[in-house]
Amino acid sequence: MAQEDIFKKLVAHCKEYGYVFQSSEIYDGLGAVYDYGQYGVELKNNIKKYWWDSMVLLHENVVGIDSAIFMHPTIWKASGHVDAFNDPLIDNKDSKKRYRADVLIEEQLAKFEAKMDKEVVKAQKRFGDSFDEKQFRETNPRVLANQKKYDELHSRFAQALNDNNLEELKQIIIDQEIVCPISGTRNWTDVRQFNLMFATEMGSTADGALKVYLRPETAQGIFVNYLNVQKTGRMKIPFGIAQIGKAFRNEIVARQFIFRMREFEQMEMQFFVRPGTELDWFEKWKETRIKWHRALGFGDENYRFHEHEKLAHYANAAVDVEYKFPFGFKEVEGIHSRTDFDLSQHEKYSGKKIRYFDPELNESYVPFVVETSIGVDRMFLQVISASYCEEELEKDSRVVLKIPPVLAPVKLAVMPLVKKDGLPEKAREIIDDLKFNFNCQYDEKDSIGKRYRRQDAIGTPFCVTVDHQTTQDNTVTIRYRDTMEQERVAISEIGKIIGEQVSYKKLFAEI
Ligand code: GAP
Repeated sequence: MAQEDIFKKLVAHCKEYGYVFQSSEIYDGLGAVYDYGQYGVELKNNIKKYWWDSMVLLHENVVGIDSAIFMHPTIWKASGHVDAFNDPLIDNKDSKKRYRADVLIEEQLAKFEAKMDKEVVKAQKRFGDSFDEKQFRETNPRVLANQKKYDELHSRFAQALNDNNLEELKQIIIDQEIVCPISGTRNWTDVRQFNLMFATEMGSTADGALKVYLRPETAQGIFVNYLNVQKTGRMKIPFGIAQIGKAFRNEIVARQFIFRMREFEQMEMQFFVRPGTELDWFEKWKETRIKWHRALGFGDENYRFHEHEKLAHYANAAVDVEYKFPFGFKEVEGIHSRTDFDLSQHEKYSGKKIRYFDPELNESYVPFVVETSIGVDRMFLQVISASYCEEELEKDSRVVLKIPPVLAPVKLAVMPLVKKDGLPEKAREIIDDLKFNFNCQYDEKDSIGKRYRRQDAIGTPFCVTVDHQTTQDNTVTIRYRDTMEQERVAISEIGKIIGEQVSYKKLFAEI
């Protein structure tokens, strides 16, 4: 099945099984805003716990905060967001649709990559085991021709972004003959900058109202609390501050479901270091973060690092962790070496000294910062994309979410074989014993087969069936979601079996 079709199916699955709903659906929805349903919220909470504990529990020198969404507007002037948090936009005059010029060009680059990959797949099939992909890529004329086009476009694009050259971005779109996907024409306007921040007013009267912004990143809440945390926590450099919270961006290209939203959630950690050591720490965090992703077992080949074409105004090194979604490799997380830009700017704009006295050097300085920043929603989409499976079985088929057990919303479904003979009561007893350790679900409706399918569809890793033998010897069958194998175990063993599989500790051992 084409990847595009798989993506459509998994979006529909998320809605049908209570993971993600369009916001304000009964009013025809609100663009690029989504609500999480009863299973979605559990998965989201588990992802957040995995991230939070991996930062705050695993690292003695990382602590968390929860800062407000509203902040003093000068913060956004100091951070550069008022003047420079822009996307380059272009409109198609025929369809009246608006696009991000950089995204149109990135999609063109992805087309060259896809053409090269297609040649590789074809050759792989032809040559079988003896196929040498490296040699093929270095010698095949069609791959080389596309690689040349890719490299030329890439360097021209990077230059235009670095120079902030909007005319050149438009010229690239014209030269590459990029058409509007709706109208199919090349009738483009000029490229212009568009600020992504949402503004609102604080205060009761129009005269006295203060223009405030909904934060476009959680990071600034950490920077402006640097001194508070450092002093009250007696933190010694190097140390980090972590935060999970909502962020808001007036995204123009809001597509691909929860990949690009106008209201989303970030998990960010700012790591404060001695100046001159930031690039070493940047490498360390790069390594730690990729291990965090890989520990989930979605396949190392589905991750790659992407160096930025253009460094943000605050960074001296930056890399994205990209995951292979059904619509291609896309950014899930950014790791940035932000220099002392933010703290220095806040010193300048607030007039307050934001320094660290380093007892080893016997001097004060503005710390440098390495940031790790990941979107909860993109991570959610990564988990769902990696887990969604359609399987043909001997007699029928099933749709199963093979979510890593530790992240699965419901860990365990307990099912009495029939609704009589004391089996429901026995099933309830098991749930009462386990419900404070695991999210359990009681299910007695329909045949056992139908119940298994329902649990497969929401990703429940374990189903326990209570039958007549249970009333005699206190054993049950436990059925494993991924293999569909079943085994008979003592009721007293269930907690241990599941506990081992859903432990965060196992994941942390790999980080
Ligand atoms: N503080 C740095 C920062 O915000 P970013 O690359 O703009 O950097 C970090 O965002 C992460 O936030 C991204 O890697 C992505 O996972 C997530 N993110 C950004 N914009 C998003 C959007 N519109 N919808 C969903 N997630 C988004």
